[in-house]
This record gives sequence, structure tokens and C-alpha cells, in this order.
Amino acid sequence: MATDSVHRLSGDFFQNPHAVYRELNERGPVHRVEFPSGMNAWLVTGYDLAKEVLTDPTLSKDLYGPPGEQAESNGNTVLRLDPPVNDHMLYCDPPRHTRLRKIAMKALSSGTIRDFTPRMEKIADSLLDGMADRAGTDGMAGQEPVDLLQAYTYPFSISVICELIGIRASDRAEFQGWLATQVSTADADEKHAAAARFEAYVHRLCEERAGKGGGDLVSELMSPADDGDRLDRRELVGMVNVILLGSQETVAGLIGNAVLILLNQPRLLAGLRRDPALVPAFLEETLRYESSGNVATPRFTTAPVRIGGHTVDSGQIVLVAPAAANRDPGRFDCPHDMDPSRPDNRHLAFGYGVHRCPGAAMARTESRIALTRLLSRFPDLSLAVDAEELTWQPSLISRGLLSLPVRLGRSCPAVADVGSPIPQQEQSKGLDAHGRTR
Ligand code: HEM
Repeated sequence: MATDSVHRLSGDFFQNPHAVYRELNERGPVHRVEFPSGMNAWLVTGYDLAKEVLTDPTLSKDLYGPPGEQAESNGNTVLRLDPPVNDHMLYCDPPRHTRLRKIAMKALSSGTIRDFTPRMEKIADSLLDGMADRAGTDGMAGQEPVDLLQAYTYPFSISVICELIGIRASDRAEFQGWLATQVSTADADEKHAAAARFEAYVHRLCEERAGKGGGDLVSELMSPADDGDRLDRRELVGMVNVILLGSQETVAGLIGNAVLILLNQPRLLAGLRRDPALVPAFLEETLRYESSGNVATPRFTTAPVRIGGHTVDSGQIVLVAPAAANRDPGRFDCPHDMDPSRPDNRHLAFGYGVHRCPGAAMARTESRIALTRLLSRFPDLSLAVDAEELTWQPSLISRGLLSLPVRLGRSCPAVADVGSPIPQQEQSKGLDAHGRTR
């Protein structure tokens, strides 16, 4: 049964959402909540209901079309992001979404990932080389605390996606600045100026790629789908934007969360060091147990609808929390235990239904490479602070640390990569055309 009263979430929610989700899941699968920002929403925490809601075609994500206007008129003005460079596949519904998604799936195919895997390995190695130079081989300098997120996980995920898109290393700092500003709380003029520069840069990339054909993500996004359909320039800019925004913090956060789990659980860490082929299973359980996402992006009702036994009025925000659903005791045994050997951990960390993450295979490949190489380079890696001192981002969408101070210890020579480039979970068996688990 749904609960009627509004559950007010305090600022502590972000530090440990699992404690709140545990309590909510005991009461039911959907709840009326008020977040610390003051936003009111229906929050889905139960696993089965999460899947139901994520595949409900009556719930809209179309923030920039007429349904979005309806949501705004109901007081939910927080959702629509200006400037319209944020009008992309994540914030629209079929049939427009289906069209855009088809082209994104083609560009983020297993072939693209396979071709790019050696570059991902090189990017990880070169960052680790830089860290190793600072740590030295005797481990003395390696006793200085280093923020692993700043030194490794963010530069890794940012370099991978920027390189895949074709953004020159010398342009990256400025480019990242425009990207951050247009989704920030900066004033409207500043945001529009940043978006205009971002757009101009992507247009320039398109001009450079035009006629050259293939080999990078922008060329793939510019090329027609099997049925001849192509993105226009505005759609292409939106697509580059959502791919950049969707792939940086998520991947960096996941690697950080995985490292934190390992540094807190020495037996798990020793097991992975002995057999790096166990890394993919460990990461899959990390995605269930402590993924880098908290709640999925908002949906809203366009007519009164029944959700989990409750009537929800039109124009209401509905949020699904994969972080809660992934620890639903009705779905997983001992859900609060991190157990990479659990026989079935089909989590919702990548979402479900038509908006399911098209970058899941790439995220798995990136995090496997980054983690395997980090562990083999720094065998004495340890936390430089007590785990209780760590602070989590005060974010509804992300579940990642603000910093992860570690001691690197001594460094070992780089080793060859292990494991298959395209993770097993992403191969066609078990997933239907919409990314739903069969
Ligand atoms: C650990 C890493 C990642 C996690 C946990 C993650 C999670 C998600 C989730 C939960 C959604 C669905 C949101 C919703 O339904 O509201 C999503 C969508 C999306 N993700 Fe990811 N993601 C990750 C990495 C990536 C990467 C590497 C890329 C691109 C290279 C990417 C690109 C996208 C895009 C474009 C969408 C929108 C899909 C659509 O609207 O159809 N993500 N992601």
C-alpha cells in the first residue's frame, strides 16, 4: 500500500539515503516525499513497482513539449532546464524519443566500444603513470593522501568520453566549463552564453567530420540510421550534451564507490587481487549495492493515474529510486550485504524501459578497465581517512563521494588488461530490444 502522509527528507538524506529507503521500503513501494530543496514528488522505492513505473507509457518525460508545460503549470517549475540544449532524448517521449534513441544506440554500439577499448586502457595507464611518478617505487611519497576522484576517476571518465567525441585535450577545460555552466544555477545570461559556445564548438566538430566518415562518435551520430533517418544539427548538439552529461559523473562515481567498498572490505579486495577476472561480477554487484545513481530523472503524470494503489493527480512529479529498489528486501535476499556471488542481482542501476541507459556496456567496460588497472598498479592502496569522515554529494540524481582521500603506497609496473571487452551482461541474451530484462 502507498503511504498518504508526506515524508519530509532532512539534509542527512544524502549522507545515507539507504537508511531512509530501508524505512520507506518497510512501509510500502511508493511515498509522497518532500526533498530538502522543497521539491514535492511521489517516490517509488519498491523494485516491482519501479519496473512498472519505468515502463508506464502514460507517464511523461517530455519537459520541452506540451506535457512539460502542463507539469509546470502545476507548480513544478524546477524541472525544465533552460537553455534548450538540454532538450534531448532523456527529456522526451516516443515517437520522438524512439527516433533519437535509435541513432544513439547505433553510435554507442559494441563495435564502437571494442574499437575504443585500447584507448581507454591507455588513458587509465597514463593517469596511473602520473600518480606512480608522484608515489615512487618505495612507497614513501605514496603515503601522502591523494584524492582518487580528482587524480583518477574523474580525469579518466572525462578523458574517455571527450576523446571518443573528438574534443581536443587543449580545449577540454574550457569545454567542460561550458557544460557545467549550462546545467548550473548560474544566471540565465551566463547559461545562454555557455550554451552558445558549446553549440558553436559542436557545430565546428561536425564541419570537421563532415564527409570524413566514421571512426568517432560524432561521425556516427551524423551518419544516417538504417532507414535513412538522420539527426538535424540541433538534435545532434542535444545528443552530444546528454552523452557527455550522462557519462562523466556516473562512471567516475561508480569507480569511486567500488574502490571505497574494496578498501572497507579487505577480503573482497584480496579476492580481486588474486583473480582480476572476478572484477566484472564485483562491479555488477556494486551497481546493485552502491551505484553512482540515486534517483532516476523525473517523470510526471499527464492525467490522474494509479501508482501502487494510490491515485496520483495530473502534473505530479514521479521519481523512481534505483538505489532503493536495488535494496528492496522483497526482491533481493539480504539486500544490504555486498555479495558479488549472489546468483541473481538484476539491478535497476541503468534504469529500465525505453530510457534504459544506452551507455551501460561502455560504463561496464570503462569501470572494469579503470579498477583492474588501479588495483594492480597500487597493491597497498588504502583509505587515508576514516570511512565515517567521507562526505557524499548532496545530490538527488548522483550517489557519489565529494572526495576519496587514499594513500597509494608503492607502485608496480603496468600489466596487460584482462577480461572480455564487451561485458557479458550486455550481450544480447537476457535483454530485449528495449533493454528490458527478459
Ligand atoms: C555507471 C555509469 C552509468 C549509470 C549508473 C547510468 C545510469 C543511467 C540511468 C539510470 C539512465 C535512465 C534515466 C531515467 O530513466 O530517468 C540513463 C540514461 C542515459 N545514459 Fe546512462 N548511466 C551510466 C553511464 C552512461 C554512459 C557511459 C553513457 C554514454 C556514453 C550514458 C548515456 C546515457 C544516455 C544518453 C541516457 C538517456 C537514455 C534515454 O533517454 O533513452 N550513460 N543512464
